[in-house]
Amino acid sequence: MMYNILPWVLSGLISELILVAARPTCKVVGEHQKDIVCTPGISDFFLQRGLVSDNDRTTGITLRGCRIIDVDYESFENLPALEYLDLSVNKIRTLKLGVLDEFKQLKFLNLSYNQLTGFPLGLFDQKPNIEVLDLKANRITNLELGIFDPMSKLRHLDLSSNALLGKDMNPYIFDQTTRIQFMDFSRNDMSGSKNILLDAFEALEFLNLDRCFLTEVPKFATSPNLKTVKHLMLSTNKITKLDDGTIFVHLDDLEILNLIDNAIDNIVHNVFMPLKKLKMVFLRGNKLTQIPDTLFQHLPKLGNIDLSHNAIEFVPVNAFRGSPVKNLNLADNRFTYLTDNFCLELRNSGGAMTKFYFNQNPWQCACLKDIIEEVKKFGIQYNGVGYDGKKPVCVTENDFTCKRQPDANANHIDLYFNLISKV
Ligand SMILES: *[C@@H]1O[C@H](CO)[C@@H](O)[C@H](O)[C@H]1NC(C)=O
Repeated sequence: MMYNILPWVLSGLISELILVAARPTCKVVGEHQKDIVCTPGISDFFLQRGLVSDNDRTTGITLRGCRIIDVDYESFENLPALEYLDLSVNKIRTLKLGVLDEFKQLKFLNLSYNQLTGFPLGLFDQKPNIEVLDLKANRITNLELGIFDPMSKLRHLDLSSNALLGKDMNPYIFDQTTRIQFMDFSRNDMSGSKNILLDAFEALEFLNLDRCFLTEVPKFATSPNLKTVKHLMLSTNKITKLDDGTIFVHLDDLEILNLIDNAIDNIVHNVFMPLKKLKMVFLRGNKLTQIPDTLFQHLPKLGNIDLSHNAIEFVPVNAFRGSPVKNLNLADNRFTYLTDNFCLELRNSGGAMTKFYFNQNPWQCACLKDIIEEVKKFGIQYNGVGYDGKKPVCVTENDFTCKRQPDANANHIDLYFNLISKV
């Protein structure tokens, strides 16, 4: 009878659907049909031979976010042309020694956003051609000495957001990977790392040490072989001082220095002097109360300086002389006035200001008026958001004159912060 067959047909269909959808679905894509892209099924998946393996032509495989929990031997069997493998955003906890042994041509391997805690020594032995290895956001605590050695062509290594402890890291771990250009250690505890950690690098350009629990600029990040580094990130650490004038002396090629959100309250006057290629320096969010008179002088490429969110009470115009400053951010500090004709002075000594932020300071109203007139005259962009008359932005005494003496500061600072706290 019909109504007896119907449930049977339906349940058959449903189990068929589940069977199909339980594992990832893979498609051949691209102009030359050389790439395989998979989408996840509805349950976790143990990758085995048969899903992406056994194809002479395949050069790229994307298994991103496919709910893979483990990878079996031979999963990538017989893929002689494979150059690109993306296994990111899965739940892989371990990679057994040998699972990556086929496909010697591989150039790009993305294992980011998995649950890997480490690697068996030898895992990458058959991977001499890898150039990009992304291991971000795993749970790696330890790296075996020799693990990276076979990858002598490696140029991009991302180890960020893991659980590495620099103090326990073997300092010879990168001995054979001399060609690395991009190195990301951010969000690991790199404090106490050995000074020679990166000594084998010959071509490093980008080094990220954001959120690495550093209390000082680490020696391993400024060693003589790092003269090729262009971009150094030291943001969000607990560095308190730059009091050694030789600290950056080897970084000949440095263009961008990021020291945002540290606790720096002490900078020696000549610390940036060796950085003749420096284009940008970010010191936002530190504890500076003063700037040495020569700090940014005669840096022929320096266009961007961010000193906002500090506690600077006096800004010496001399500090910028001889540098082509374009963007200067002095917002949220503690000064009440700037040197008379501040912008003109900068222009006359090499500056080319197009953007100048000085809001959120305890301005004397007469001094604020002067600087606003000046930036308007020169067509310099400034942050006028707070200057709509609705909020207090400055304080004034009976005589509306700008008092440019250090002793005028304290008085006004108190007045200003009193006023602000009442709003
Ligand atoms: C690796 O995969 C992650 C997540 O899919 C992605 O955001 C990242 O850009 C990839 N890495 C590289 C080097 O392409």
